[in-house]
Amino acid sequence: MQRMKIGLCGLGTVGAGVVKILQNHQKELHHQTGCELEIMKILVNDIHKKRNVQVDPDLLTTSSDDIVENEEIQIVIEVMGGIDEAYHLVKRSLENGKHVVTANKDMLAEYGLELTELAREKGLDMFYEASVAGGIPILRSLKEGLVSDRLHKLMGIVNGTTNYILTKMDEDERGFEDVLAEAQELGYAEADPSSDVDGLDAARKIALLARLAFSMPVELDDVEVRGIRKISTEDMKLADQFGYKMKLIGLAARDEDKVEVSVEPVLLKKDHPLTSVKNEYNAVYVYGDAVGETMFYGPGAGSLPTAVAVVSDLVGVVKNMVLGVNGTSYVIPQYAKQLKAKEE
Ligand code: NDP
Ligand code: HSE
Repeated sequence: MQRMKIGLCGLGTVGAGVVKILQNHQKELHHQTGCELEIMKILVNDIHKKRNVQVDPDLLTTSSDDIVENEEIQIVIEVMGGIDEAYHLVKRSLENGKHVVTANKDMLAEYGLELTELAREKGLDMFYEASVAGGIPILRSLKEGLVSDRLHKLMGIVNGTTNYILTKMDEDERGFEDVLAEAQELGYAEADPSSDVDGLDAARKIALLARLAFSMPVELDDVEVRGIRKISTEDMKLADQFGYKMKLIGLAARDEDKVEVSVEPVLLKKDHPLTSVKNEYNAVYVYGDAVGETMFYGPGAGSLPTAVAVVSDLVGVVKNMVLGVNGTSYVIPQYAKQLKAKEE
């Protein structure tokens, strides 16, 4: 059986989930790919740290060269987070002919256009389904299931941590800091949780979604952002008395060649479907000229749901390798052209 060799960068919340899925779903993964998926090296900060997943200690390394320069490794999974180090690691991996799967929306919001274009030039796959809405296959739906439509609006909840906080503040009348600490413990929050609570994480995701949905160059700076830091349990009680619930809503709307993108706390009528999206769950409405309204719902954060998206991307890469049709990443042709023109 053909063996596909993988370098895993990161063994935290998501990385541990990836290892568990590769260990526990071996039969399904063999069946889907016809290949054996083998992790050859795992990049971490601290090889002595106690882990909640069992791995051969000899696989652990603190040197990215052991993965990026390893000629046997064909696919790199980047689930370590951060921006600059992750960017250089992914770029070097692509330059060295390795396919990439990443969950890193922080890096993608800044460098995604350049990296997907590099992957395309090299005939490599670069997939990033887990970067938006964890376990909901929304990117694939936009670029495959809905690709023939003219999409004009996206709206929804795209950050699990803030939705968890707002749910617990509302239902259990718990304080902001207390629930945030719990969301961190559950592995939902970013390493720096201010990007969750101040709306930046949601802004990165809505920018990524808007790029794919509208095939337009939406940048992080285009997103108007307000987070939930100033919301108190008193605000939520008052809203409830008047028949409303507070949700952090991401919105992207296209009108011809103009796109408006925002993230802000919004009061929704209690009977609005998004008010029933609770805890770390996400939901996104997509509006198209032909399809009308579709809604995607599921876990937006957490180890195993996110890892499912990562390993499903991995399966996609491996299937393309077997068929010899790599280089199919979600590039945005119009924007790639503009980027090139700017560089020249
Ligand atoms: P964690 O902080 O739990 O894990 C990060 C892992 O990467 C750790 O194993 C850490 O090593 C390792 N690491 C980080 N920086 C470096 C470095 N410079 N060199 C070597 N190893 C490094 O993060 P998560 O698993 O929560 O998130 C990973 C990525 O997935 C992020 O981009 C995040 O935005 C994204 N994501 C997370 C989701 C979630 O629910 N948590 C959902 C969707 C996407 P060590 O363990 O030794 O410290
Ligand atoms: N911190 C992110 C969230 C993780 O809470 O939604 C998933 O992208």
